[in-house]
Amino acid sequence: MQDLKELNEVITAIKEEIRQGADALTTSKSVYEFKKTFLDNKQGRIGLLMKEMRNVANDQKAEFGKTINGAKEWANNFFDELDQKLKEKEQQQRYESEKIDITMPPVKIRYGNLHPVTTVRNQLTDIFTSMGFEVYEGTEIETDYYNFTALNTPQDHPARDMQDTFYLSPEFLLRTQTSAGQVEAKKPPIKVVSPGKVFRSDDDATHSPMFSQMEGLVVDEGITLCDLKGMLDMFVQRIFGKQTKTRLRPSYFPFTEPSVEVDVSCFQCGGKGCRLCKETGWIEVLGAGVVNKKVLENCGIDSNKYSGFAFGLGLERIAMLKYGINNIKMLFESDLRVLDQIDD
Ligand code: DAH
Repeated sequence: MQDLKELNEVITAIKEEIRQGADALTTSKSVYEFKKTFLDNKQGRIGLLMKEMRNVANDQKAEFGKTINGAKEWANNFFDELDQKLKEKEQQQRYESEKIDITMPPVKIRYGNLHPVTTVRNQLTDIFTSMGFEVYEGTEIETDYYNFTALNTPQDHPARDMQDTFYLSPEFLLRTQTSAGQVEAKKPPIKVVSPGKVFRSDDDATHSPMFSQMEGLVVDEGITLCDLKGMLDMFVQRIFGKQTKTRLRPSYFPFTEPSVEVDVSCFQCGGKGCRLCKETGWIEVLGAGVVNKKVLENCGIDSNKYSGFAFGLGLERIAMLKYGINNIKMLFESDLRVLDQIDD
């Protein structure tokens, strides 16, 4: 290359090449790479034009240099502008993709809640401990002796038929009642509740092979059925509401004498009669009685000096009454549609 005319032609061609090449560039990074091929000091196509200076006549050298520098400046500006535009476009795209629609409904966070039987168990435990009861948890596998014999239900006693039992061996069984813990209690004065799972070979809408009970036992000097009645009145008012009354009906349990079945006035209709209480105004909630002297003696307690009362209730039954559930299976199916509705 020897003169300005030729240089200008080359530069015009390079500019055209840059303009055309630029159309295909979409990112800031590709602009940088493309720019290097023209403006790199050592290998850039515009930079290399300086080398042609040798062949140019002296009086043209200044103009030749100026023209190349002008082309450099043009290219630099061109790429800066292009880069700026692409950066803005990239940013705009990012804004679009990261846009937050504040009118969208939020994702609902699901909080867990306690199982209704756990809730009932906690509520009962709170009520009884506030009355001074201790909590004792027995074992689910019991001996035949503690579950039956010590509770005045020896082998062949007809009352064993009241509870269909899962035997693990002739000696061991899955406890059928939390009453089994009674005999393991310490010396009087005793004031203890014992919650836990119990097992019976029984299965229908209101019975399940596994369910939960809470047993209560109070032993001291001069304890009578009146103490039981007074405590029950307080207890049912706290669990079912202030207006609730109790009614004792004679019953039979081998470990209590006398034995009673305890009804509460229907907390739904107030006693007038409704579906929940089967139009009777009363709902059966637990079994209780004055501890049979034989049981006290089996515990090594002097039955002439001490007396006591005991009671046992089913936690699922209380939960079903409280939450209006008519099939015990609903409590064991872990169906969130059911459990979500019961959040006390
Ligand atoms: N253990 C009885 C049952 O499972 C309930 C019961 C009744 C417990 C009377 C007692 C009681 O302590 O005195 O059916």
